Amino acid sequence: MSTIDASFVSARPARRADWLGRAATFCYLSIAAGQLLFTAFILAFYYPASLSGDFAAWNTKPLIKGFVAGDASGNLFFAVHVLMAAVITFGGLVQLVPAIRGRWPQVHRWNGRLYLLSALMLSLGGLWLTWGRGTWLNLAGAFGISLDALLILAFAAMAYRAARARRFVEHRRWALRLFAVASAVWFMRVGYMAWGIATGGAGIGEAMDGPFDLFLAFANSLLPLAITEIYLRADASGTPAAKNGVAALLAIGGVIILAGSVGAWMMMWSPYL
Ligand code: HEM
Repeated sequence: MSTIDASFVSARPARRADWLGRAATFCYLSIAAGQLLFTAFILAFYYPASLSGDFAAWNTKPLIKGFVAGDASGNLFFAVHVLMAAVITFGGLVQLVPAIRGRWPQVHRWNGRLYLLSALMLSLGGLWLTWGRGTWLNLAGAFGISLDALLILAFAAMAYRAARARRFVEHRRWALRLFAVASAVWFMRVGYMAWGIATGGAGIGEAMDGPFDLFLAFANSLLPLAITEIYLRADASGTPAAKNGVAALLAIGGVIILAGSVGAWMMMWSPYL
């Protein structure tokens, strides 16, 4: 193993048997289950229609714009967007598996480059779909998702810079932050479902303009980011009590994510397959 490979691998914390380590693994597995369902939906619903050019088939699912007859560039942007959506969702899960990083660093590097490219395309393309094509229901939602795009671009740049400079501990932190905000679109769907199951949909407006909609418009990226930040701090320098507190937070978060993911599969994704 070269020096670079050795420092690369040592950037990942040793597998730990403490509660924080266990809770983080559980939370990751819940996210993985939910994101694999999202990936399966994108592959089964959007890939056949987008790759065969049957763009009109997108509109069998409720969308703000989706396919618009005569809007060639808008439809093309949408097609690229949904094709890249599966790449980033599946690719992010692969990047976080320690065994892959340790055993096959080349896979991590190439998948990492693909992940960064898809992050760039989805955030810039998403900004164009929102503001250029005018795909939005209300301004809070449009600003919330635009903030997410800016966070993705900023964290992708930081993660890339740190990796290029071989600062792997720093790279891991920025990469985790990037994963948190790049998962915002998925998190929003899961968040709606978990909230709907718990409250019957309190605060959700007809045009997605209720108090909960406004909250989730920004919380879809800021909440996962805040939890990631708390986890990173507790992991690096937390007291045993703080670590256990964050472990409980991650465990509860994991259960909520599982419930929301099952709800999203049943209500949002599988009915269109
Ligand atoms: C980075 C991860 C992202 C993923 C995985 C993703 C995924 C998707 C998917 C699957 C759709 C199809 C709609 C659906 O079936 O639910 C979609 C549509 C869309 N996305 Fe994204 N997206 C991402 C980022 C973004 C960003 C950052 C923006 C805006 C800045 C954005 C703006 C849009 C817009 C405007 C649509 C069209 C919605 C419609 O017509 O109903 N996306 N995205």
